[in-house]
Amino acid sequence: MEALIFGGAFDPLHSEHVNILLNSIKQIKFSGKTIIVPTFVPPHKSKAVIDFETRVKLIDETLKDKGIDYEISDIEFLRGDDNYASEILECFAKDYDKLYYLIGGDSLMTLESWHNPKKIMDIATILVCGRTGYDGIDDKIEYLKKKYGADIIRIDYDGKPMSSTLLRTRLMLGLDTDVPQIEKVKPYFNQLHEILTKLKSMQTEDLFLHSRAVAYRAVELNHIHRLGLDPYKCLIAGLLHDNAKQRLSLDGFSVPDDAIGTPVLHQFLGALKAERDFGISDKEILSAIKYHTTGKADMSVLEKLIYSADMLSEDRPDIERLLQVMKNDFEIGFKACLSSSYFYVLSKKRGMYGLTKEAFEFYIQNKE
Ligand SMILES: [Fe+2]
Ligand SMILES: [Fe+2]
Repeated sequence: MEALIFGGAFDPLHSEHVNILLNSIKQIKFSGKTIIVPTFVPPHKSKAVIDFETRVKLIDETLKDKGIDYEISDIEFLRGDDNYASEILECFAKDYDKLYYLIGGDSLMTLESWHNPKKIMDIATILVCGRTGYDGIDDKIEYLKKKYGADIIRIDYDGKPMSSTLLRTRLMLGLDTDVPQIEKVKPYFNQLHEILTKLKSMQTEDLFLHSRAVAYRAVELNHIHRLGLDPYKCLIAGLLHDNAKQRLSLDGFSVPDDAIGTPVLHQFLGALKAERDFGISDKEILSAIKYHTTGKADMSVLEKLIYSADMLSEDRPDIERLLQVMKNDFEIGFKACLSSSYFYVLSKKRGMYGLTKEAFEFYIQNKE
């Protein structure tokens, strides 16, 4: 009997996981048992992590009508944190004559740095799925075959760039997804639910949809460019960036004098009201809100991200060209956004806000 082992956090399982699995089964004409091995994810790892039991239910809901002979293993859950793939595979090797181990291209590239990589390659035939544009996989396969005598099969698969982080974000924001039984994951997002409800009650529908679109774009760009920011921070900063847009009363807050009565007032008030009315204390988030319209010299990654996501959210018209630039390169994309905004304001003869001028000089005229 043969087994195909597919491990991952599956937090939650998404369409690309399923497609990768189905493609693998088809390509190697696999007729044995597929074993899905959800990893144990420590509860402290992220605010948005779905517990083991629910992840298992979601996997089951998704796979049950796909015509796969599968089981979902609780081996990692029972063993707790810090499992090595080599040890997990060793456990399964006792029960099966042959093992296939399905991994992504990213994992193959780092396989040698895993605990006991030789054992992994001795025990199992590696099935590797490389996304389009992922260079170096074929070279890596040849290298590992030569060095370890590994048996590696590349799975032909050209999928959409979905990820669990993006899927979780869609779930949290109430955007459309293809995950079944969404009700099961909703309770995890109560904190966000509160913010969403409050924001919705104080914004027009268009502004709420814009805020949600900015939040999603921010998480997506953080993911695509591997900026390394906490997705939850990107989400909160994106959602709240315009929280004061329809609440321009100073409420006793002090803002720069030259901001009063200008379109940039809402960014300063937004930061202050996010703290007072939404209980946000994270300085990076507040600062990203505070400068999202004007920019400034020497911005943090989160500030640049929210500034750009605000200009490139799905609800904005005619963003394709700029969005493409941004998707290709974050820094160039940010500078393109900054330039575009700068020249737009210039053309309107509205008067340039000092911070925008500073940002332009810093980033575009290279006075960094
Ligand atoms: Fe704004
Ligand atoms: Fe905005």
